[in-house]
Amino acid sequence: MGENEPSGWPGVLHREGRTLCRLPGDPSELGPGPGTKGQGAVFHNPAMAGSRTRSVLLLQYCIEAGLLGEGTIYALDGLSASGIRARRWLNELPSESANRISATMGDMDPAALDWAMLCHEEFPPSHGKGELLQHLGDLRKSVLEHGRHWVDIDPYGSPLPFLDTAVQSLARRGVIEVSATDSAALSGSSKSALLRRYGARVYTDGLAHDSGLRVLLASLARTAARHERSVIPLLSVWDSHHLRVSALVKRGVEGANRVEESLGWRVAEPTKSEVSVSISAALHPHTTLDSDSLPMHCFLPLNHPIDRADKRVSGPMWIGALGDSGAMASMSEERAVGLSSPMYDENDPLAWSERDCEREKRSVVRSVRHLSEEAAVIDAPHLILVDDLASWLGSGSPVSPSKMVEKLRKEGHRAAVSRYGKPSFRTDAPWDAIVSATDV
Ligand SMILES: C[S@@+](CC[C@H](N)C(=O)[O-])C[C@H]1O[C@@H](n2cnc3c(N)ncnc32)[C@H](O)[C@@H]1O
Repeated sequence: MGENEPSGWPGVLHREGRTLCRLPGDPSELGPGPGTKGQGAVFHNPAMAGSRTRSVLLLQYCIEAGLLGEGTIYALDGLSASGIRARRWLNELPSESANRISATMGDMDPAALDWAMLCHEEFPPSHGKGELLQHLGDLRKSVLEHGRHWVDIDPYGSPLPFLDTAVQSLARRGVIEVSATDSAALSGSSKSALLRRYGARVYTDGLAHDSGLRVLLASLARTAARHERSVIPLLSVWDSHHLRVSALVKRGVEGANRVEESLGWRVAEPTKSEVSVSISAALHPHTTLDSDSLPMHCFLPLNHPIDRADKRVSGPMWIGALGDSGAMASMSEERAVGLSSPMYDENDPLAWSERDCEREKRSVVRSVRHLSEEAAVIDAPHLILVDDLASWLGSGSPVSPSKMVEKLRKEGHRAAVSRYGKPSFRTDAPWDAIVSATDV
């Protein structure tokens, strides 16, 4: 063992996207939770690969769109573990983007940082651009030592303990990406944890994970407002065991003062008068208010009187768009493959065949599925699960999301199949048009 080599080095060679790394054990045998940390192993969860691919794409979009200024981009992979996320930024971004990045991997586990730095030395970006630094310590303290344009928070469980300082560390305009693996709390299954941590309630129906993303965004928005900043959501994704939101954070008292305009409630099985309030507040498209055919859900503004014992009500939550249409439109399959899919190389250290490369390419493509189509409707008020729609209307078997989208578009409405983890579509169509579109 070399002088600086951590125990277990060189471990197992692994590829994610276009980036090679070494891990102490076979990643398919490392669990998705913190169980491995006590064994001195560096945490790595292959199920988060899609989240890391989207992070590469979002960073590239923000650079191209000029959201991160013109100079050096100080980026922090705050809870970096194996460092694969920061290394993927540098390895997979085009050289002109990587050239602007000074990335820091932060972790309180020195072994994790040793593995990450050694991997970077062995498998540096092929274009040789960008800077990668390490920072050992507790993120809650160290994050404030330096201003950043990009901060990634990917903890075990809830991100709340890290949010306050992470937001304060951002430049006048910066991006924060926040993962939460306490999805049982955020989606309302662990009610007391949800209330304790996020001060919210979530009705555990089919939209529970969409509501969870909105509760997380509301916490981020309120945290930002406390520090005289406002947020613009760029991307919000529920992916297997975790929820993740990414937002542009801008400094400014005026925006911060308006935080409550974007917060409110979601009501399941709303009454006629609740739908009417939602329409008046421009949170719901105009529709015939027929008591026999009311929508499944509607949003209500924060100032609407709510009976907190009413189980139908979820929130407080973000009731604005869950993402930015430009950012999401950039996340096409072509772009994902162009940046992150591995290319066959006969001298590959992992000796991957063309078939292996094809398998990884499919996984890269899966990570952005539906995102670019959904871009055009991400601000739309309706997220409709087709199974729920069929039972709500008592109309027999559900119509597929793509069929519904086709019909609604023909009628002149905006509609797209959603990335959400259940067969669904988003649309700005009035409820009566949605109901008519279910007629075969
Ligand atoms: C879920 S893992 C991060 C996974 C990583 N972002 C990835 O994409 O693979 C959480 C990491 O945070 C580190 N950690 C936990 N609490 C911390 C703290 N207060 N400050 C710094 N690092 C911490 C752990 O050592 C662990 O490596």
